[in-house]
Amino acid sequence: MHFVHQITSSDQYLKDYAASIENPALFWENVANEFTWRRKWDTVVDWDFDGPNVQWFKGGKLNITENCLDRHLQTGGNDIALVWESNEPTELNKTYTFKTLHEEVCTFAQVLRNYGVNKGDRVCLYMGMVPELTIAVLACARIGAIHSVIFGGFSAQSIADRVIDAQACLIVTCDVAFRGVKEIPLKSVIDEAMLQCNSVKQVIVCRRTHNSTIINTPSEIGWHEAMSKIDRAAAILQKAEVMESEDPLFILYTSGSTGKPKGVVHSCGGYMIWTHYTFVNAFQYQPGWLHFCTADIGWITGHSYSIYGPLLAGASTLQFEGIPNYPSSNRLWEIIEKYQVAILYTAPTAIRSLMADKHSLVDDYPMASLKVLGTVGEPINEEAWRWYHEHVGKGRCEIVDTWWQTETGGILITNLAGITPAKPSFATLPLPGIEPLLVDENGLELFGNNVSGNLCIRKPWPGIIRTTWGDHERCKQTYFSTYPGLYFTGDGALRDELGNYRITGRVDDVLNISGHRIGTAEIENAINMHPGVIESAVVGYPHDIKGQGIYAFVIYPGIDKDHAQLAVQIKATVIHFIGPIAKPDKIQIVTGLPKTRSGKIMRRILRKIAEGEPNALGDTTTLLDPSVVDDIISGHVF
Ligand code: PRX
Repeated sequence: MHFVHQITSSDQYLKDYAASIENPALFWENVANEFTWRRKWDTVVDWDFDGPNVQWFKGGKLNITENCLDRHLQTGGNDIALVWESNEPTELNKTYTFKTLHEEVCTFAQVLRNYGVNKGDRVCLYMGMVPELTIAVLACARIGAIHSVIFGGFSAQSIADRVIDAQACLIVTCDVAFRGVKEIPLKSVIDEAMLQCNSVKQVIVCRRTHNSTIINTPSEIGWHEAMSKIDRAAAILQKAEVMESEDPLFILYTSGSTGKPKGVVHSCGGYMIWTHYTFVNAFQYQPGWLHFCTADIGWITGHSYSIYGPLLAGASTLQFEGIPNYPSSNRLWEIIEKYQVAILYTAPTAIRSLMADKHSLVDDYPMASLKVLGTVGEPINEEAWRWYHEHVGKGRCEIVDTWWQTETGGILITNLAGITPAKPSFATLPLPGIEPLLVDENGLELFGNNVSGNLCIRKPWPGIIRTTWGDHERCKQTYFSTYPGLYFTGDGALRDELGNYRITGRVDDVLNISGHRIGTAEIENAINMHPGVIESAVVGYPHDIKGQGIYAFVIYPGIDKDHAQLAVQIKATVIHFIGPIAKPDKIQIVTGLPKTRSGKIMRRILRKIAEGEPNALGDTTTLLDPSVVDDIISGHVF
């Protein structure tokens, strides 16, 4: 496949960038013409950020899976679409060509239809990293059902919150998921969640083991049993649902600074164009390359760059069930050699943990097939960048530092591999269509170079969030109200003398733990569910591997209670209500929190204490009771 809109020189980058800003409609119309549409659009873009109301390719009709699969059947039907590597290196891998993946997707789409799932219905997927997850995602898109993938590390309560919010009618899960030495009992977690979820009419359980006791009620069926009842030849002939460009494609829940996670909604047409365009440009994908994104499909990176982006481009995507350090910290290098991977896309956390592992024999693996290395999810420190470049890329692979968010659908700021220059720890320059700007707290634009501020984007791009599920006002408040007329990212950034952007991290109460976003309010709510806890405050602190660690200050009366034991219980409570990713690394039981006279917790002070800088607290005179601070500083941490 030839990509008409692949940028092939730095000159072209400058030209395309200028053209995209000057006349966005013309620019994106040309890109959109590369795809299969059932009907072309009436208007390329229609928007205002006050609504917000953003519509791309209005009047256009399409099905994204026809672009991911059917479009490649004539020329590349026997090309590899998906390679699956098990958690266990000894277990046989699985491969799907575009033709066989198409068949599986059409067959599972028919299963969903037979269970009465219609266009617009919500389907939740709570599965491990098995090929059936990708098949289920695409099958939903095939029939126009809105998929909502829930990361396999979330607890029953988190699942219930998401299923209820989306009013999902069907769930697809697995009996268990394998991750390293862990076996996660997904189906029993679903059983517990289902006690609260009345909207769900059917549960489909994909067996990862040979255990036969997972089907408990008539509203549950095994994946393979359901698939075996379908007439495959007929299923393949069934037409894909024709979607409006602006129909929702999926919901993905993500944490914010307040309340429960919100369902970020992406639409069919714009997301398709954005994931494809960014995939071929950022990574400079070339036909025949194998793309390996290590992200779990439960996160946006997995959606955009393990499934949609690569398949839209006709690329082969490698999905790995396990984790980088199982059974040893050479696992990624083994996989790269085994399959001759060309693009490796991973997170700084993984890079730092492999770098820190003295047993990793990275230098023994030539990995000659590698061409491009990507990083995403959190700022990458220069040391990790250099290690990635020298030891994994052997000094000859380009590194792309890609900055984006669940809400942006795909990459917004990155260097283009081998086309525009990389700069360690900088995401560098915006992609065509993206107009970043920095503002101060009052929303005043900061001009010039070598300035730092809050990162905003001026105009919509095709992949931008459309709404938050069931609560449009929340979308407006979270992203479009802080600085009226602008999309606010929640990140701080610095711009250097060449216009390169360096993302410095969140400026709101959102933590980034191992590249996973989690709001402090959400963790506090979970901690407060522990009986006896009066109040808590959670802050982040620098963590060598995870980027940030979670530090919780908890008010718990009854000073004689064993604090070490209490900390263990509080951690268990957080795991129960959210999942292991939100488990505090450090807990300190305190008698009070530093509050202003108006009752606001001064997190700045707690952050300094958590960072181990109790002498740099700054002004504490506005505190209601400054002595609280001394007590905290002299307290014990568990
Ligand atoms: O703070 C930024 C950080 O991750 C946040 C988005 O998290 P999430 O929606 O979970 O999506 C992660 C995968 C796209 C951002 O607000 N972030 C993401 N990429 C980078 C980054 N920080 C620095 N550099 C990056 N390349």
